[in-house]
Amino acid sequence: MTQITDETRAALAAQVKFYRELGIHSFYRRGEAPEELSEQAELPKTAEAKVLPVIQNESGDKNAALRVIRDDIGECTRCRLHKGRNKLVFGTGNVNADIMFVGEGPGADEDEQGLPFVGRAGQLLNNMINAMGLKREEVYIANVVKCRPPGNRTPEKDECDTCSPFLMRQIETVKPKIIVALGAVAAKNLLAMNDSMANLRGRIYDFKNTKLAVTYHPAYLLRDPRQKAEAWKDLQMVMKHLGMTPPAKAPIPPAQTKND
Ligand code: URA
Repeated sequence: MTQITDETRAALAAQVKFYRELGIHSFYRRGEAPEELSEQAELPKTAEAKVLPVIQNESGDKNAALRVIRDDIGECTRCRLHKGRNKLVFGTGNVNADIMFVGEGPGADEDEQGLPFVGRAGQLLNNMINAMGLKREEVYIANVVKCRPPGNRTPEKDECDTCSPFLMRQIETVKPKIIVALGAVAAKNLLAMNDSMANLRGRIYDFKNTKLAVTYHPAYLLRDPRQKAEAWKDLQMVMKHLGMTPPAKAPIPPAQTKND
């Protein structure tokens, strides 16, 4: 059996503490269900296997670190959503992005292509990003749950809880300057607050080692385009926070798709 040195043990303990502070309490061994590590318990002998991927994340190579996270997710069967999954939707974009958009979970188009926000809501998100003077390739995009909920239902709390540690690791790896939570599911899960969108929007939160703003989900904006002006206010707040110059023609309704 591999001996764990004191140095490795200390590094592992520091990593565990760091991830606990991020709100992550479960560490996965590939292909296994989460298992709680007790606060007081000494690191179990298997700890090296459980948390080594996290330590590798310190390499500074964000692409490699994201690949490790993707490998850890594997052919996931940790929650019931895997049953209806075609393709798992990990996330995509610029690993050095200042802005990370977080949605709820894949829809039919995303499930088919394995990429986030590629359907109609995705077109609107692209337009929102473009309205900020950015290209989709310049931001990072991920979801709370990585598998499509059947019939596009809202993901259940246990499904979000099972998948969230991976999102937290994506956030910790990309290190965006700000996260934009798209809709109530993303906002409530990330902030652990159960409040209305009206109350959640309109401010910049301290979130772990970064910031977070909440805006409407593009699918909601497709249903109620009048709210685009409000969403645009949220995006302008994000731009101001980042010191970005608003586009010359502002204010622009953030996303006119051909179908709107
Ligand atoms: N809605 C989401 O929340 N995420 C996607 O990737 C697509 C639609």
